[in-house]
Amino acid sequence: MKKLTLTMMNPDPLIQFSRWFDEAKQCEHISNPDAMCLSTISPEGLPEGRIVLLKDVNADGFAFFTNTDSPKGLSLRHTPLAALTFYWQWLERQVRIQGSVVSISDSDADRYFSSRHRNSQIGAWSSLQSAVMDTEDELSVRFQHFKEKYRENQVPRPPYWSGYRVVPDKIEFWQGQDFRLHDRFMYSRNSENGWKIERLYP
Ligand SMILES: Cc1cc2nc3c(=O)[nH]c(=O)nc-3n(C[C@H](O)[C@H](O)[C@H](O)COP(=O)(O)O)c2cc1C
Repeated sequence: MKKLTLTMMNPDPLIQFSRWFDEAKQCEHISNPDAMCLSTISPEGLPEGRIVLLKDVNADGFAFFTNTDSPKGLSLRHTPLAALTFYWQWLERQVRIQGSVVSISDSDADRYFSSRHRNSQIGAWSSLQSAVMDTEDELSVRFQHFKEKYRENQVPRPPYWSGYRVVPDKIEFWQGQDFRLHDRFMYSRNSENGWKIERLYP
């Protein structure tokens, strides 16, 4: 892989991210370029990680959607801080993001929810995300119930289903190199709301 130098890195990490993300999306060997590990801190102070999908990225940060009453939703209510980690194996690249978390507006959540497949919308009503299921068919019974309930109508967005945006304070780009002499560049937000870039040891 071509050695990365500071001059090759865009001064704005969101633009740098978009470049790498576009390259990952264009790579036929990468099946879920938008999959990222979302790490949060539980109300008990324990670390937790799970994959979610990146649904929007802009100058304000990285957005994903979920059940806001799920464990991750409860964790974010308690401690609105998170880390995101992307790994694009074929490109030998990792991106790590750390920041604060804000809720997405109802209108943005409505817009995204209405773009989803009808069955996914009904799925959002059916799933009590991460709650224990007592019987095998509980989920399909609930799915049928909501399918019937909204039969003739548009499926509204459940009150417990929305999105969050991670507003980054730090973004690190990692590019694999031979003999583990990898390139790493850390962007940190400075007091003027610009970005400082530093090369890190691998
Ligand atoms: C490839 C992949 C994509 C996923 N995307 C999402 C997502 O966008 N939103 C979501 O809530 N869960 C998503 N999940 C499920 C989560 O990993 C997790 O199981 C679920 O959100 C419950 O997490 P929690 O109990 O920590 O709240 C995805 C899982 C995988 C494997």
